[in-house]
This record gives sequence, C-alpha cells and structure tokens, in this order.
Amino acid sequence: MSLPFPILTAEEAAELIQNGQNIGFSGFTAAGAAKAVPVALAKRARREHEAGRPFKVGVLTGASTGKSLDGALAEAEAISFRTPYQGNATLRKQINVGNVKFFDMHLSMVPQSARYGALGKINWAVVEACDITAGGGIVLTTSVGASNTYMRLADKIIIELNANHPTSLLGMHDIFEPQDPPMRTDIPIFSASDRVGSPICVVDPKKIVGVVLTNQADESGAFDESTPVTDKIGQNVADFLVAEMRAGRIPPQFLPLQSGVGNIANAVLAALGRSTEIPPFEMYTEVLQDSVVPLLENGRCKFASTCALTLSPEMMKNVTGNIDFFRNRVLLRPQEISNHPEIVRRLGIVSMNTAIEVDIAGNVNSTHVMGKTLMNGIGGSGDFTRNAYMSIFSCPSTAKNGMISAIVPLATHMDHSEHSVNIVVTEQGVADLRGKDPYERAKVLIDNCAHPDYREQLYDYLKLIEAGCHEPMSLELGFAMHRHFLKTGDMRNINWGDYK
Ligand code: COA
Repeated sequence: MSLPFPILTAEEAAELIQNGQNIGFSGFTAAGAAKAVPVALAKRARREHEAGRPFKVGVLTGASTGKSLDGALAEAEAISFRTPYQGNATLRKQINVGNVKFFDMHLSMVPQSARYGALGKINWAVVEACDITAGGGIVLTTSVGASNTYMRLADKIIIELNANHPTSLLGMHDIFEPQDPPMRTDIPIFSASDRVGSPICVVDPKKIVGVVLTNQADESGAFDESTPVTDKIGQNVADFLVAEMRAGRIPPQFLPLQSGVGNIANAVLAALGRSTEIPPFEMYTEVLQDSVVPLLENGRCKFASTCALTLSPEMMKNVTGNIDFFRNRVLLRPQEISNHPEIVRRLGIVSMNTAIEVDIAGNVNSTHVMGKTLMNGIGGSGDFTRNAYMSIFSCPSTAKNGMISAIVPLATHMDHSEHSVNIVVTEQGVADLRGKDPYERAKVLIDNCAHPDYREQLYDYLKLIEAGCHEPMSLELGFAMHRHFLKTGDMRNINWGDYK
C-alpha cells in the first residue's frame, strides 16, 4: 500500500509529542486502544525523567484502555491528567494518592466537553485504524470511543495502522457526530440497528503527521469463571425480567438491553440467553463482552449496537473468522451516540449495571470504596441509568468474604440517586423500588437483597431513626457500619451505641 503519509516508528512518533501536551487516544476498554505509541511514549518519559527533565502528558480516551496505554504510561509516571474512565491498578493508585488528576465523567459527555474546550486543548490524536486512505479516510478497529471527535479537534494525528485487525471491519462502524446546541437536531436512531452516519472517519489528511505500522491483538483479558454467586445474580435478573414481561410491564417483543462490564454482567447476559421465556432481544449498549457472541450466533441476540467489542482473544477470532455474519449484527458507534440520553430514553432501554454499595434509600455508589478510594469511574452507567425505561443494579450482597455489606444505611459516595435506581439485585433476591416510599424501599432492600448476616442490624438502624423523617437517615449513624469496618475489619456485630 502506498500512502502519502510518513511511515514512522513508534519511537519517532513519540519524539514528536511534548511534555505538557494533551493526547486524545483511541480505546474504549482495551478494544481498539492505541498500543505502540503509548509504550514508546512511556520509554521516552523514563529517559526524560532520568535526565532530570519533567515529562507528563494529559491522557484522554474513550474509557479504560489496555496495559500498553494506561499501564505503560502510569508505570512511567507519565500521566498528569486523565479522563474519563480507567481500570488500571497502577494508575488507580496514583489517582488515589493525588499524583494524577482524574476527572470522572459520564462517557456520553466526553466528546461535547472536548468540543467546548472544557477538557483542555487536544494537541494530538493517536488512533488505531485497520485501514486508511490517501484522502484521510480512517477505518477504526474494535471500538470507536471518542476517536472521531479527537481526530477532528486535534492539531495533529498519528495513526497506528494495526494489521492484526482485518480491513474487513469496514462497514461495522457508524460514525455520527451531532452539532452542538443550539444547532443540534434529532439523532434519527429508532432501533438498535439504524445506521445514521458513515462507516469511516474522514479527517483532514494534512493533520496526519505519520502512520505507525503495528501488528498487535487487543489486550482484553479473558473472564473469570462464573461463581455460584454471579450465576444466582444472573438468574435473579432473568427471572425478574420474565416476571415483568408476564405482568405486561415489558412488551412481548422485549426491550433493548444495556449491560455493564465485568463478571456479573457476563453472568447476567448468559442467564438471559438461556431463558426460554425471554424472546430474542436487541442490545443498545456501550460494551459487548464475550457472553454476547454465542447469543448472536444462536440468534438469542438479534442485533447489538455498541461502542466497543471487548472480547477475549479467542472470542475475537470467532468474530473476525466470520466477519460477514457479525457485520450484519453488530454496529460500533461513537460513545456520544452509543450512550446518548436521547436514544436511551427513546428506545426504552433496560439498563443493567453493577454497584459497589447500595443504601437502604436506593442510592448507588459505583465508584468509591469507603467513599474515598476510586475504583474505576462512573463510565457509562449514569448515561444509561438516568434515562433507561428500567434501571437495574446488581452486586453480591457482601464483599471481602462477608465482612462488608453491599446494602448499607447510607452510601459513602453517590453516583446514581434513589430517583434513578429502579431495581436492585443480589444473589439473595430482587428489590423492586418503583413506586415505594423511602421506608418501603429500605424494607424491601433489607428483606430481599441484604445478606442474612446483616438484616437484623440494618433493621436495628431503622429502629434507631427518629420518627417523622421522610428518609431513613441518621446524620450520626449513617456511616457507622463503615466506621465499624475500619475499626474492626468487619461490618458485622455492630453495637450502634458505640457510634452515637
Ligand atoms: N466495599 C469494598 N470493596 C468492594 C465493595 C464494597 N462494598 N464492593 C465490591 N468491592 C470490591 C470487590 O471486593 C472487588 O475487589 P478485588 O478487585 O480486590 O477483588 C472489586 O471491588 C470489584 O468487585 P466485583 O464484585 O469483582 O465486581 P466487578 O468487577 O463487576 O466491579 C464495579 C464492580 C462497580 C467496581 C464495576 O462494575 C465498575 O467500575 N462500575 C462502574 C462503571 C460502570 O458501571 N460501567 C458500566 C457501564 S458499561
């Protein structure tokens, strides 16, 4: 292939980037993340640091990335600012001690915020592609994320042309960028499979300063084996949705599903796939995980609109080996569209995300352990939850071998408020919070979702609350179970009087 762009090594590309600049990288999860340039940039940062010179960059992406991006740059202490989401252990530590500034934001808002300049100047876009034309047509790989916007906004673009992804991915993407208010019109998506944009990103070819040739698989890991707890959560969600269908609150043709990331989400989807009562369904989601591929193959999932194909290497081979089949059943959209509130509300999505803890009023914490320590970020969970036809949160009823209850008097951080959270599911059962007042919600959460080890003490908390309040809330005792854990290493067997 002859291209009018300089072919650079990753090291040559990294040399072009200066200390203090902001880079919009491709990558929504490890899918489609830039891999070669960030590793070279990390090496450069180490060299600069050894020479006594500062070298850090601002890192903007679609969402979390792989070990070659967040991992390599964090280990080289080369990140000054990071948004919108991460899931890397080293980076998490640096954020939690304040060495990296992290702005945790709703994923659908990233492109618009970048366009308005709220995230700083985008000096560079470093984007993985499987094909490129001389005129600046870019075929992205296994995710879209915010790459289309970053390339449009950036002063300069570096393309990682990755031969590991087949060029036959062309046609799987639907690139659409809305105009900003007040010029914005509707986004004409009326079902998960509607195409509204272009299969390629078109960028100003003059901004492409180089192409780096790579051949690397995505760094998405395989999933853990399911456990009896995750299986039970999955089954509880599936049984609940069947009951909703029977009750007529979900139409017989079903509603599109959004599913979060991780082992629980994988188990939920597997259970939905097994259900004989749930009809073949569509997904309008941001991440497509391993469990959906067999469901697409066997027709249980009819179509999946997503922002990323976050598949283990083995599952990815299934997809690329049968690309014509999957290209007709999967559409990759920018995160601004895959998570857009307008579409989520219009399609009547059933959202399914994971909580760290849920308080007895129904507020959900998805991001901060003990209110202080960042886990990953809010990701797209808020985009979907707030606008869904029905929002579901699931989690095991306890963490850390039973020493932490997921159902607590007061959430130590709030990502999704009681006004947006409809259904909570643990392996213990399902709490339907719709139409219930705060005390009714508290009772159903304790009875149906809390682990038996914690039910009595949660009821004791309720008894201690003065009558005449609308919310089951004690300013004095709200965090007593968390304080008890920090003091004793266990939330159980609390003597509430010790915390008054
Ligand atoms: N207190 C302390 N730790 C807790 C906890 C609690 N209440 N609840 C969970 N944890 C810990 C677990 O013990 C586990 O720790 P480990 O990594 O040391 O084993 C870790 O949090 C992850 O929990 P796990 O039960 O394995 O669930 P998960 O991998 O599905 O992650 C979230 C759960 C909430 C952290 C994750 O789903 C997330 O980041 N969500 C926010 C973003 C989001 O929802 N995106 C979806 C839109 S696509």
